Amino acid sequence: MSWERTQQQELKVQIRWLIRRDLPEVLDIERASFEFAWTEEDFLCCLRQRNCIGMVAEYEDRIVGFMIYELHKSTLQILNFAVHPDFRRLKIGSQMIEKLVDKLCQQRRREIRLEVRETNLPAQLFFRSQGFRALAVLRNHYEDTDEDAYVMCLRLTDADDPTAFAWPRNRIKYRDAA
Ligand SMILES: CC(C)(COP(=O)(O)OP(=O)(O)OC[C@H]1O[C@@H](n2cnc3c(N)ncnc32)[C@H](O)[C@@H]1OP(=O)(O)O)[C@@H](O)C(=O)NCCC(=O)NCCS
Repeated sequence: MSWERTQQQELKVQIRWLIRRDLPEVLDIERASFEFAWTEEDFLCCLRQRNCIGMVAEYEDRIVGFMIYELHKSTLQILNFAVHPDFRRLKIGSQMIEKLVDKLCQQRRREIRLEVRETNLPAQLFFRSQGFRALAVLRNHYEDTDEDAYVMCLRLTDADDPTAFAWPRNRIKYRDAA
């Protein structure tokens, strides 16, 4: 692989809004990541909603990750999120969560939520490493497999003080090192 890794195995990416012409690359990542992948129509339908936002991570003009999320009054809900299989474990997912946390603080929202399949252990471990904790189990949540979903949540500890956010330890380390 041609990219350079830093000591922490972090590949620095640019994070920006998703635009229509990103969709073919986003769909490739989606199909490579999920057995029950969203279709192009699913993405378009979702992104037409006023409270729905897409972001992408770019490395050397290539889309290497994406996230779709929904804004609610006090919560931000992640609906879809994946990093290209060839670019995983390079802290790209972490950088996208960090971006989301920055937005959360700016917008005075208090938590990020998501649902993850019970069989998706890598994602559960990833979100746990980012400070998310399991809140609830939704029994037989998915129509395709009847699997349970775990609701995971990252919460502000004090809405008036964004610096009081419960950052996971590894990110504090990165911030201090920056
Ligand atoms: C979940 C996902 C987005 C993580 O993205 P990523 O860029 O690879 O994650 P990072 O490199 O930022 O990982 C940060 C930390 O999370 C944990 N982690 C990430 N992937 C992991 C895995 N497969 N197994 C165990 N821990 C993992 C590790 O602690 C990791 O730090 P380390 O590499 O120093 O050990 C990616 O694995 C993915 O696209 N999965 C398929 C799609 C998916 O399941 N999306 C979530 C739907 S809810």
